Amino acid sequence: MPLPAPTYDVAKSYDENYAAGPAFSGPEPVLAPPRRTISFLGHRLNSPIGVPAGPLLNSAYVSLYARLGWDIPVYKTVRSVERACHPAPNCLFIPADPLREEDALSLRRTAPAPDALTDLSITNSFGMPSKPPAEWQADVRAADAAMGPGQLLIVSIVGTPGAEGRDLAADFAHTAALAKAAGARVIEANFSCPNVVSSEGALYGDAVTSAAVTQRIKEAIGDTPLLIKIGALPEEQLTAVVRANLPFVDGIAAINTVPLRIVDAAGQQALPGDGRLKSGVCGAAIRGVGAGMTARLIRIRDRLHAQYAVVSVGGVMTEQDIDDRLALGADLVMSATAAMWDPLMAARWRNR
Ligand SMILES: Cc1cc2nc3c(=O)[nH]c(=O)nc-3n(C[C@H](O)[C@H](O)[C@H](O)COP(=O)(O)O)c2cc1C
Repeated sequence: MPLPAPTYDVAKSYDENYAAGPAFSGPEPVLAPPRRTISFLGHRLNSPIGVPAGPLLNSAYVSLYARLGWDIPVYKTVRSVERACHPAPNCLFIPADPLREEDALSLRRTAPAPDALTDLSITNSFGMPSKPPAEWQADVRAADAAMGPGQLLIVSIVGTPGAEGRDLAADFAHTAALAKAAGARVIEANFSCPNVVSSEGALYGDAVTSAAVTQRIKEAIGDTPLLIKIGALPEEQLTAVVRANLPFVDGIAAINTVPLRIVDAAGQQALPGDGRLKSGVCGAAIRGVGAGMTARLIRIRDRLHAQYAVVSVGGVMTEQDIDDRLALGADLVMSATAAMWDPLMAARWRNR
């Protein structure tokens, strides 16, 4: 049986999806009252389930997913300056064989679309496009207004080195302040993106530089809670990053995509354009890496007697995966790839 159609049409450009999406023909499920509400950064929420930054391009996507029971939608990463998307295609299927962390930057060939959601893995490469701030700020307000009771919108931001003369840390802080001014209740700073060649995508491994950035952001946003989004790191390095950032952040979301080198059947770079051989992989192939990082973040939290929230992302493909991440101790569990092709997963989890 072929996969159901995703809410983001991977055969179309980002701009077409932004203007016309999400693609969803319903019917929308009736959500049972929450079985057990949870507390997260001072908010009472219907469930711990969300969609991480990416699949929800704008308020139209955010409001659909909120209605479908994804109680913590994250608004796709925005910048302080307008930025075009990498050219299409932006999502290609790849085999779902489980990846290990040491496979990062190894070669993978694209594959035909799988038959089953549990075999669904893609590489995605957008380059963190952004509308100009005034436009996304108005749309963030609309997205926030679409939240029902027990739901919370998180806004993902990234700094752009050199934007209007600001250095990277100053621009992260400036962009976070723009998000706060748009009413963001929680801000997530994206420190990990394999799909850009500039420095903003690789901050997460550097304890000193990342903490200098979170300090600047915190100074700019005051008491608005701050999360950082990071990629997979070995335990010792992760401990150093956590320790350094702890004074300024309220939680850590992990993981972003795992960078591989993606080629087509002929062995040529699969995505068009400079700098796109390396591309982030997500979905079923990274389930083990995502779960491993969640376990590590919780172990480190216990060892440091610290209090940060852990947002488990990466390879959450089924209701069982949600349960498994919660059993590890995650505060929130989020799905990007599976949520695109299976937008009813949260409602099934909530209603069972
Ligand atoms: C279509 C798409 C777009 C994405 N865009 C972003 C982004 O703008 N910012 C970000 O922090 N992560 C982005 N991500 C990464 C996801 O938030 C997530 O970390 C990653 O996909 C792993 O989760 P998954 O295995 O459930 O897909 C994107 C992922 C997908 C699938």
